[in-house]
Order: sequence, then C-alpha cells, then structure tokens
Amino acid sequence: MSNAAVAVKNNIDFDGTNYKNLIGFILSNAIAGELVAVKNYTNMATISPDINNVIVFLQEALEEASHARLLQNLAKELDVPVVTHIVEPSWLNIVKYVTECAGNGNILACYMAQDLMLETQAVVLYRIMSGENSIVDEKTSSIAKRILQDELQHLDSGSTYLAKAIKDDEAGFYIELKKTHDKIMPELFRLIRNDCDTLCDEMGVTCGTFSVNDMGSDIDLMKIMALEFYVESMDNIGVKPEFINSLVTNVSGFSENPTSACC
Ligand SMILES: [Fe+2]
Ligand SMILES: [Fe+2]
Repeated sequence: MSNAAVAVKNNIDFDGTNYKNLIGFILSNAIAGELVAVKNYTNMATISPDINNVIVFLQEALEEASHARLLQNLAKELDVPVVTHIVEPSWLNIVKYVTECAGNGNILACYMAQDLMLETQAVVLYRIMSGENSIVDEKTSSIAKRILQDELQHLDSGSTYLAKAIKDDEAGFYIELKKTHDKIMPELFRLIRNDCDTLCDEMGVTCGTFSVNDMGSDIDLMKIMALEFYVESMDNIGVKPEFINSLVTNVSGFSENPTSACC
C-alpha cells in the first residue's frame, strides 16, 4: 500500500498543515535532544580517566551530531518548519545539570542522566517516529529507524557501565540514582506534551493548533511508553524492583514545574 493510501485510510494528511507542523515540532525537539547528547558525551569525554572511554564518548558525541544533521535534512526534505538549536528550558536545565556534574567529576551521574535517562527517552521517541503506535510518512519512519539502532547501542553501552557501578558501590549508586532521577526525569517528562514554552514561537507556528493525534498517536500513551521503557532499562541494569517502584510511583508529579540545581 502506498504512503498516500495509508494516510488516507487512517485519515492522516501527510501534506496537511497540522501534520507538517507536528513533524516540525517533533523534529525540532529531537534535534535539541541530539545536541544535548553531544554536549553531555563531550563533557563525559573531558572528565573520563579511561582513554578507551574517552574515544567511545567522542564517537557517541559524533553520532549524536550526525543524528541532528539527519533530522535537519529530513525537515528540509519534508518542507516543515524547524528550529535547529536548543530552545526549551527543560533541555537547557538538563544540559546545565550534566555540565555541573561533569565539572564536579561526577561521571556516574553523567552516565545515569545521558546513557540511562536520555537514551531511554530517545529510544521511545524514535520508536514512535518509526511508526510504533503512530502513523508517519515513510521518510520520517526510515530516518527514525536508522537513528534508533544507534540509540539502542548507546543505551546498551551505558547499561554495562551502570550494572558494574551497582556492584562496585551499591549504596552510593542508589543515592546518586535518586538524585539524578529527581533532576532529569521531570524535565524529560515535561517535554512529552502537545504544547511548549517557546518552541512554537521560534518555529513560527501557533502553539496548540496541532497535537500528536495528528499522527494517530496519543500523549498519554507516549508517557506510558516512556515510563515503561525507563522501568525496563533500570531493571536490565539490576536496579532493585522496590527502588524502581519508589522512583516512578510519583510519576504524575513529573508534569509539575521542575527546578534545576547543581548535583
Ligand atoms: Fe542520537
Ligand atoms: Fe544516543
């Protein structure tokens, strides 16, 4: 079945203003997330005592920059409005927190923020952009599937480090995980919404005139996918189930206004 036929069948108009503005909005946020990851991995490379890890972090930073370029090119090809720099306060708060952690030499918090929290949310985003629980055009789906493979590798590589970190210092690990979770996850969940702080203004579109329903998805479903995969990822690295529960039971509070602070 052709892309157009699928779109008609599901009442999604890939050439319509709402769909185009929505894809532009998602691509802008995805590009911001990629640029945040570039900064985080670069910070991690700067403070890593292990030369092999320095190389890995710099390679990951380069991959994230390549993702940003792929998404920028996609926006151009689809002719959708896009912003290619970090705009939303939540992204800026995340960069600030990880930069401060790196400044304090706290590589564990950087791993938790970038390789566990940001990467799990990136995986969910690119799954949705691939067409999982959504209806998207073929070009978006194709690029998202390509990027998704890299994000899964980033998550995997961070999980190996974090699984070892639990064994090395369990008490210290849980203290740091709670602290990092409290700073990073509310910011990430605040980004899962149909409106924005200032992004729409920068894009030149009217906030509130489009939503993820315009790609056959649902914002609450996205939050559930994000939460479930975060839980699954923590479980995979060996975080105790009762600790995971304690972190995520207050998930409804994630939409409240978070504040940023130093690690
Ligand atoms: Fe990426
Ligand atoms: Fe990544």
